[in-house]
Amino acid sequence: MKEPLSENDKIKEYWDERAAGSSAIAVTTNDNYLRILEAETIAKVIQELELPDALRVFDVGCGDGQTTIRVAETLKAATFLGADYSPAMVARAVANLADNADVSKRVEFREGDILNLVACSGAEHFDVATTDRCIINLPTFEEQRQAIHNIAQYLKPGGYYLALENFTDGQEMLNQTRALIGLPEISVRWHNRFLTEQELDEIASPHFDILRILNFSSTYYYITRVVYSALCRDLGEEPDYQHPIHKVAMTLPSEGNYSPTRMAILRRK
Ligand SMILES: C[S@@+](CC[C@H](N)C(=O)[O-])C[C@H]1O[C@@H](n2cnc3c(N)ncnc32)[C@H](O)[C@@H]1O
Repeated sequence: MKEPLSENDKIKEYWDERAAGSSAIAVTTNDNYLRILEAETIAKVIQELELPDALRVFDVGCGDGQTTIRVAETLKAATFLGADYSPAMVARAVANLADNADVSKRVEFREGDILNLVACSGAEHFDVATTDRCIINLPTFEEQRQAIHNIAQYLKPGGYYLALENFTDGQEMLNQTRALIGLPEISVRWHNRFLTEQELDEIASPHFDILRILNFSSTYYYITRVVYSALCRDLGEEPDYQHPIHKVAMTLPSEGNYSPTRMAILRRK
């Protein structure tokens, strides 16, 4: 009889299946415009940190590499290593790179598990590390702690870690607002464990100074998950992630605390 899969293996299988079976626009999330907003925010924040141009960036949990590639398109002198534990995701990332001659010389994708990065990144130390909705796929707080400890081991002293992860209080605020106008709760999906800011502080502070937490997607969520959701309900339409309101929402300044997804900007001690 086959051994039942561990929670970690079930989550990995989910990502493998998603990599094998999703359209290019929806491999790592259905919300393609959110992904574009995330990539733009990562590139902008790195530029604002005024680091040397020839940066080395480590994107852990890179999925199909679209975000890594978008950031590389903006940071033209930086080189990137993207790692993901799903072989199918890495295969898609490598294929996406093949389509992009401009950045293919500066970006590489490898298999690597955030809980054990030695085989993937050896003894290398990076200027910047990013995770974009990766840590939330670790099912326990202790594994999330281990993952952040591991990221710290691959950064130079003074290097930066940009953690784009999901937080419970943003999700709660969004749901409270939806409830005010009779919209149902959006639940956290089975394969995610969202953090609280206190938890992030606890697990990051042994290695990092937490410089800032950016609510970069609050307006985006307010418009797409409150205003647009209510319109769809009232018009009897199914929400469509490709609806142009998403494109408008991502261009507006971010106000408030209506999004689960934030970027914590951390500096290695
Ligand atoms: C929500 S997707 C985000 C992918 C990409 N960062 C993006 O923004 O499009 C989460 C990714 O994290 C990867 N992942 C989850 N747990 C991981 C782990 N332990 N080590 C490495 N990658 C992991 C999944 O395979 C998946 O590709």
